[in-house]
Amino acid sequence: MQHRELDVGFFWSALALATLGGFALGAFLAWQMAWGQNLPPDLAVWIQVHGHLQLVGWAGLFIMGVSLFFLPRLAATPLTRPTWVPGILGTTVGGLVLEALARLVGPRFMPASATAVLGLQALGAGLTALGVLSYGFVLVETFWPKRRKQDGAIRPVEPFLALMFVGWGTYAVTHALLALAAAHDGTTLLPLAWHRWAVEAFMALTLFPVAYAFSVRTFPLYLQTPLPGPGLRRWGWGYVGITAVGLLVSMPVFVERGGSRWVLLTEALRLAWDGTVLGLIWDLNLFVRTRPAWLSPDAPRSPHPRTGQPPRRGYSDYGEFGRFEALLYSAYAWLTAAVVLDAVGIGLGWLGRRVPYGRDPVRHAFLLGFITLLILGMAQRMLPGFMHRKQLAHPGFVVWTGLLGNLAVLGRVGPLLGPAAPWPFVRALQQAGLALSGLLVLGAVLLLAWNLVATRYCMDGRQGGTG
Ligand code: HEM
Repeated sequence: MQHRELDVGFFWSALALATLGGFALGAFLAWQMAWGQNLPPDLAVWIQVHGHLQLVGWAGLFIMGVSLFFLPRLAATPLTRPTWVPGILGTTVGGLVLEALARLVGPRFMPASATAVLGLQALGAGLTALGVLSYGFVLVETFWPKRRKQDGAIRPVEPFLALMFVGWGTYAVTHALLALAAAHDGTTLLPLAWHRWAVEAFMALTLFPVAYAFSVRTFPLYLQTPLPGPGLRRWGWGYVGITAVGLLVSMPVFVERGGSRWVLLTEALRLAWDGTVLGLIWDLNLFVRTRPAWLSPDAPRSPHPRTGQPPRRGYSDYGEFGRFEALLYSAYAWLTAAVVLDAVGIGLGWLGRRVPYGRDPVRHAFLLGFITLLILGMAQRMLPGFMHRKQLAHPGFVVWTGLLGNLAVLGRVGPLLGPAAPWPFVRALQQAGLALSGLLVLGAVLLLAWNLVATRYCMDGRQGGTG
């Protein structure tokens, strides 16, 4: 059976779009906001472009690259249309770049309502949607139950994987329709409420399910957690139901007409979602082990074939991927913080107390804290093997990506959880945290890029050659 090799273009594109696009925009905006300096007059458009680039260009392209390699192997079925892959990458990335340029650079040279700007904006969004839908089509076709040659590894996480494809389609189609609607209205600003809804839909339908499914399948090996419990499939379908109802009820078309009782209903459903995610974190047995590990820490451990060194206790590696586990544990700690903050915010509101923070810190605890730290950790643990390398070129970098990444989340989320402090020193710390958060995470992403490029292109056969 011939499987397709890793398409590294997805990772190089994600790293380029993140450093030059999404993170750079976020870093600039956070810096200006923190020091009270001038913001672009079309700030809302900049924020939307930052969000879209981060969701699809950063997290999305990593997910595409890993899933096109890993999922067919999990199902023991080769990808049905391997020749489509370069086209999927080209249209997705081309569309993202075109749309970002049209919306941010176009209006510097001509009115934002010019046909050329609006046409390119809609074309960019359409191209990205085409890339995303083709990606979804190929993987769903490959994964179709009758075609799979192996089912056991997929069944426990099937609800999460199914939802991931629904999320990709929902986000890409909604975003393209919003870009068309904006073009029709003669603006580069997508309708705000629907754009926010699409962001929440992508987080709940795609980002969480895929992150969780990959964690369930890989943590037993990487972190010696237990295999999935017998109830995981049921938990998964529960998650699907709560997410679907929650997103349906929170659609702007219903919220605008529903009044305060409807808002109460959306909040109750969000609480249920938060609770389900906490339950899933518990079931992963990451922080508290309630079931025996897949690999017992006392099992005979084979020494490293070349150095004779035993594996690290509690892990299946010899340290050749650095301290990647710190990133994975931090990611799940930030996810826990995100859902607890969300639930506390809703609870305070119900008690008639003023909630000192809005949705933004919760969203970034999830997107930067959970998703980005998970990418930083998983990429350095998983991708060397996918590239036929036995180790990272610079295992020592990993601890620095963890440190910079965590400081960035702290700076991005912490200062927004309450009002500015009355003490000048603490206030300066809050400002500096927010201002520097983007630069800190850019440092972490650049270290990751350096490590992956060096692992792929600079390792000789003896150090990390084909395994
Ligand atoms: C340190 C890194 C980051 C910085 C400095 C940053 C900065 C910002 C800023 C200033 C905003 C506008 C907030 C407002 O509405 O007042 C924002 C919104 C947003 N960010 Fe980030 N961000 C970062 C990381 C990320 C990551 C990793 C993602 C996704 C993977 C992300 C996705 C979003 C989204 C979806 C929005 C909302 C867009 C909208 O409302 O249209 N950000 N970010």
